Order: sequence, then C-alpha cells, then structure tokens
Amino acid sequence: MHTPTGHVVVDGALIAGDWLQVIFNPSFPYRFTHMLIASGLTAAFLVAGLSAWRLLKASDDSAARRTLRTGILVAAVLAPLQVLVGDLHGINTLEHQPAKIAAIEAIWETGKGAPLVLFAVPNAETKRNDYAIEVPKLASLILTHDAEGEVKGLAEFGADVPPVAPVFYAFRVMVGVGTLMILLAWAGAWAMRGGRRPGRALLWTFAGFTFSGWVATLSGWLVTEIGRQPWLVQGVLRTADAVGPVSPAELGASLTGYAATYALMLIAYMVVLTHLAGKGGQVQVGAPALRPASAEG
Ligand code: HEM
Repeated sequence: MHTPTGHVVVDGALIAGDWLQVIFNPSFPYRFTHMLIASGLTAAFLVAGLSAWRLLKASDDSAARRTLRTGILVAAVLAPLQVLVGDLHGINTLEHQPAKIAAIEAIWETGKGAPLVLFAVPNAETKRNDYAIEVPKLASLILTHDAEGEVKGLAEFGADVPPVAPVFYAFRVMVGVGTLMILLAWAGAWAMRGGRRPGRALLWTFAGFTFSGWVATLSGWLVTEIGRQPWLVQGVLRTADAVGPVSPAELGASLTGYAATYALMLIAYMVVLTHLAGKGGQVQVGAPALRPASAEG
C-alpha cells in the first residue's frame, strides 16, 4: 500500500502480477523489522510491568523478580535497536513518500538545513508552526545525513498532502515513548545488576509503563496510515476513488460500534491482567490437596 510493486492493471482493476514482488516491496524490510521489534518491546514492557506490579504487592516473590529481570533485559536490547531501525525506516519513507515525512516533521517549505521541530502547533491555515521549539539543521542531518541536505516541504506536493497535525503529534508520541523505553530499560538493568532488588520508585515506573508498547505501536500506525493520505495505495489509488456505496452515517455507526467493543475488551483485558498479576502465580488445579496424615487429628 505504501510502496506498491508487482501489480498489474487489468480493465481498471489492480491484480497481483508477481506475488514475490508484492510481498518483498521496497519498504518491506523496514516495516517488517520495525513491527517485529515493536511487538517484542510491547511484550517485554507488559511482562516487566506486571512483574513490577506483583513485586509492589509481594516484594519477596522470586519468580516475579526473575520475570521482571527478563522483561528489562529484552527491552534494554530491543529499545535502542528500534531507534536504529526507525531511522532507516524514515529514510526509506523519505524516498517513497516524501509528503509523509514533510508532515511528520511539519516542514511547510522546501529548504536546505531544515530544523528539527521538537514541538509546535502546526497551523494548516497559515501553513506555519506556532510555538515551535526547533533544533537548527537537525531534520536535514537525520533525514539526509547531511546538515545542509535539502528536505522537501509540504508546499511541493500541492493538494496531495496528509493532515499535518495528527501525523506530527502521533510521531512525537511514538518516538517519545521509544526514548523513555530506552532510559527506563537501562535504568532497570543497572538497578538490578548482580541480582540487586529494584527500589519501589522503579517498580512503580515499570508498572506505569505496562501498556506503553500499545501506545507507541498505535501511534506508529496512525503516523503510517494518516500519513499516506490522500492515497490508499501510494501513487496508484486515491482513498476518494475507493469509497464504496456506504453512507457516512452507516460508516460512523459501524466504526463507533467497533471502537466501543474493542475499548471494552481492552479495558477488561487490562483489569484482569493487573488483578491476576497482583494475586501472584500460585494457581490451584483440580480438587484441593489431601491433608498430610500427620496433620489429621
Ligand atoms: C524511537 C525511535 C523511533 C523511530 C525513529 C521510529 C520511526 C518510525 C517511522 C519513520 C515510521 C513511519 C514509517 C512510514 O509509515 O513510512 C514508524 C512507524 C511505526 N512505528 Fe516507529 N519509530 C520509533 C519508535 C517506535 C516504537 C518504540 C514503536 C513501538 C513499540 C514503534 C512502532 C511503530 C509502528 C507499529 C509503526 C507502523 C508500522 C510501519 O509502518 O512500519 N516505533 N516508525
């Protein structure tokens, strides 16, 4: 959908011509690796967070200490790897979807030595960034690996640009959570070195990060999917041309239904997991054990 290859157009319909090309398209290696690491990080923080929650309730639970250590170590390795892969992913996107990168960075005009906008309120009407906090030349350095490199601005693409604000904010949430993940995983690995017990402040922080992987992953998908608008299949099929004969009201109702169902299931999942983690790992299977003979009166 983002870097389409291997398709043929027959009577106006898109048909897969070469499946290998369809699957192993130019952005496949980056998306696949970035998503795999995202899943690993999500699981690592889930395990670490629930273990931390357990240790806050029962500090002598040695199994929870082992699972906490495992989650932390996996995260300490994967989190910095994710930044490297994310950087390569961004450079690939710059090549194939430059308008998405312009929206991610809120760069309105093409220019050399583009600054990295750390925070701003992108203003679609004035086509400027309000309240911007910028680091000079850093966007050019990251994207072209040259401080004076040229980065295309949104103006370059006419009307074929995504809405800037959601892409810009979602990207900062993803990278922000990713950066905190590195700091936290490394702090945790240091605090637990040589079998040391982690302090309560660290346990509370890990417990707070239990579901952080979902936040980063969903933000990543928002960047990716809103960022490719107005295209459904980049450069091939516009979203507007793929709209079916369903009314906005029907679509809105079905979307609300899905969102509400998933929100409910997600809340139930989080509550059950947290509750079980708090109770600990002793599960009674089958009938209660017989009392030993010596205990009988
Ligand atoms: C910290 C540095 C990170 C960088 C530089 C980075 C970079 C990127 C970029 C450039 C994209 C959009 C690519 C496109 O749509 O063409 C993206 C998408 C995505 N990111 Fe990240 N990311 C980072 C951290 C994370 C973390 C921590 C997670 C999750 C734990 C994550 C999960 C995702 C997901 C699920 C997508 C959408 C799937 C895809 O398009 O590959 N990212 N990331």
